[in-house]
Amino acid sequence: MTTQTITVIRGDGIGPEIMDAALHVLDAMKVGLAYEEADAGLVALEKHGELLPQATLDSIRRNRVALKSPLTTPVGEGFSSINVELRKRFDLYANVRPAKSFPNTKSRFPAGVDLITVRENTEGAYSAEGQETSPDGEFATSITRTTRIGSERIVRYAFDLARRTGRKKVTVVHKANILKSTSGLYLRTARKVAAEYPDIECNEMIVDNTCMQLVMRPEQFDIIVTTNLFGDIISDLCAGLVGGLGLAPGANIGTEAAIFEAVHGSAPDIAGKGVANPCALLLGAVQMLDHLGQPENAARLRNAIVATLEAKDSLTPDLGGTGTTMSFAKAIASRT
Ligand code: NAI
Ligand code: MG
Repeated sequence: MTTQTITVIRGDGIGPEIMDAALHVLDAMKVGLAYEEADAGLVALEKHGELLPQATLDSIRRNRVALKSPLTTPVGEGFSSINVELRKRFDLYANVRPAKSFPNTKSRFPAGVDLITVRENTEGAYSAEGQETSPDGEFATSITRTTRIGSERIVRYAFDLARRTGRKKVTVVHKANILKSTSGLYLRTARKVAAEYPDIECNEMIVDNTCMQLVMRPEQFDIIVTTNLFGDIISDLCAGLVGGLGLAPGANIGTEAAIFEAVHGSAPDIAGKGVANPCALLLGAVQMLDHLGQPENAARLRNAIVATLEAKDSLTPDLGGTGTTMSFAKAIASRT
């Protein structure tokens, strides 16, 4: 097997603990990865005086694949968010967040949920442009920009993902009834793309109804594709459906690089205690292995996580167990 080098960002708070755990499992699996460590976030600010050092950007550009722990964004310094900045720098336009039921979580849906949210990651309400408050504090404005090209590529990504993974249906989520220009352009573009994929069922759903439907009948969804802000909110809702942040991974995919991570943050309230759940980052590693063309190893890792949950072996406190980050990881590694 050839060795693939990936950039590893250990991150802040619980970041180093869950990364140690994730790398322990990947090493035990012998999937042929070499790690190039790079700093970002608070650690980088302390060591190099910058939140996002050039060396880190160079490493990601060179390796094209990064596994990243959560980063703390210090309030009032530098970028509005380092994560948003990374997505911008590498044009990581597709944020892919799977949500699938797991056994022995505290979820309301121990079975039946198996969906992927594909969130547009670079435009919409997330541009820093035009965020203004009037001098007297009486009104505020912001710019939401949607492009035809941005809409086309995210919807195309969702339909290609459906084909590639044997999924049958794509739900285009929008609010074009109210946001007539931005969401309207998105919806019209999505319809044109959908017409090129007659083999995949396509339906349209307004975002508020989508939230209700997700809670009432999540099993009707297969792939959801939507704009940045709606995707942010919906994917957290979906994480909640299957057992919470400790089980929710996300991939940020662009044409030149891809960054795999947990959806959750640096959890300062439990940092350094060795009790953080490593599963979200490990499930990010599952997505990474798929991306690297190792679907068998991706399935192997995922199955080991499910088997460990099923056996209730060394689960962390968020899942009702008394295990630690590393004992949970070792239990998973032993099942790979
Ligand atoms: P958070 O996700 O760090 O924590 C929310 C709650 O979930 C906390 O009670 C925490 O203990 C718990 N939690 C999170 N991950 C867990 C895990 N793996 N195992 C067990 N419990 C877990 O959100 P919060 O507190 O709003 O943000 C903290 C920092 O993280 C902020 O600086 C924020 O900017 C950053 N952040 C970074 C992200 C990233 O790097 N992708 C994403 C979200 C937040
Ligand atoms: Mg979010």
